[in-house]
Amino acid sequence: MSHPSTYVPGSAFERFLDKRLPIIRMGADFMDFPTPKNLNYWYTFGGILSLFLVIQIATGVVLAMHYTPHVDFAFWSVEHIMRDVNYGDLLRYTHSNGASMFFVAVYLHMFRGLYYGSFKEPREVLWILGVVIFVLMMATAFMGYVLPWGQMSYWGATVITSLFSAIPVVGDSIKTLLWGGFSVDNPTLNRFFALHFLLPFAIAGMVVLHIWALHVPGNTNPTGVEIKSKKDTIPFHPYYTVKDGFAIILFLIMFAVFVFYMPNVLGHADNYIEANAMVTPAHIVPEWYFLPFYAMLRAVTFDIFFIDAKLGGVLVMFGSILLLFILPWLDRSKVRSMRYRPAAKIFFLFFVADAIWLGWLGGKPAEQPYIWQAQIATAYYFIYFLIILPLLSIMETPKELPKSISEAVLAKKKKQVEQASAAQPAE
Ligand code: HEM
Repeated sequence: MSHPSTYVPGSAFERFLDKRLPIIRMGADFMDFPTPKNLNYWYTFGGILSLFLVIQIATGVVLAMHYTPHVDFAFWSVEHIMRDVNYGDLLRYTHSNGASMFFVAVYLHMFRGLYYGSFKEPREVLWILGVVIFVLMMATAFMGYVLPWGQMSYWGATVITSLFSAIPVVGDSIKTLLWGGFSVDNPTLNRFFALHFLLPFAIAGMVVLHIWALHVPGNTNPTGVEIKSKKDTIPFHPYYTVKDGFAIILFLIMFAVFVFYMPNVLGHADNYIEANAMVTPAHIVPEWYFLPFYAMLRAVTFDIFFIDAKLGGVLVMFGSILLLFILPWLDRSKVRSMRYRPAAKIFFLFFVADAIWLGWLGGKPAEQPYIWQAQIATAYYFIYFLIILPLLSIMETPKELPKSISEAVLAKKKKQVEQASAAQPAE
């Protein structure tokens, strides 16, 4: 912890424990943590994500008590959960929609990081741990979707695992290892179930490191200017426990609307048909949160020199995620927040639109006019990270930064007062 502890053990028991396992001190120091006083609601998604990790693990463990990981029973064991198990439908819908909410929150959390330059020095490790969490989340969600053993489960698993065969030399062996045989079958379902159960705990471990890495430099803030004095901060509790709590309640209301009123709207109807290796669905589409990456995978329809189209698509898709790992070294601008980077802000807004466009394209069939659109959108994704951000780092003239967080907060307040008094009708 990077701030001096103010905790004083109150009782004899606290004094006893503090000398042996200072866990109460750690909790108290977390609550006391000097946090920038100007954090807005974009900074509440970390707390929301932590809650959703707990929700997913809790509902997942109970679902696992009633689920059977066998190709002959998996689909029907899920139906059994929905129909016979007490509150089973609620449990399943909470878990499946919870996964979607987790991704809504993680994407907003990541876009916040991109906009406010949270990945920049000295928070590179914090960011990289975040990207590792993101990759683990995607692997976990992908394997979870296979478990109900519906048509989309089966065919989604077949399409994505087959991608590995595009890798030269070792590709086929990797695919066979993933399958545990020569097609997606019972061993595949079993290993996916084991890993789907295990990975969330690995994510939880990474989250501990992520939050540890956060507490060394502390939060950024919307100005991007680091804390200069005590005046720039407030203790985490009660200010941000209340703000995070309010955001969590709003987010849970939205979550409840999905769970109780439209629990299947984010899923695909074909997954209510049991997996059938003899019938291929008309359109194989992944869950909504994978669609931008799926669009990039399918955008490569041509060979690039000696790389054939299939391998090209795989490289582009995995490359789009790997790029995030090196982002701190691509965007070298000294100014952290895009609030003070007028040109970067415009390209960032295009990037957000591009990501949404890719998501829309990922849900469309792989035919024209969607293919050329996906090619343009994919090109912009890579150009943004590899060309625009590095160039802006050297070419852009940023706006003048406030001298401190306090100065920015007071200037905003002053402006609000002036506007309010100008709006008052003259006597
Ligand atoms: C299970 C998933 C995750 C959890 C529970 C989590 C949790 C948190 C928490 C509690 C914070 C502090 C509050 C806040 O700034 O919102 C935080 C900050 C941060 N997270 Fe995450 N996070 C997760 C995933 C990610 C991912 C996927 C990334 C990026 C790829 C990421 C990057 C960051 C960064 C850079 C910060 C520092 C923000 C700043 O101070 O500017 N996190 N995270």
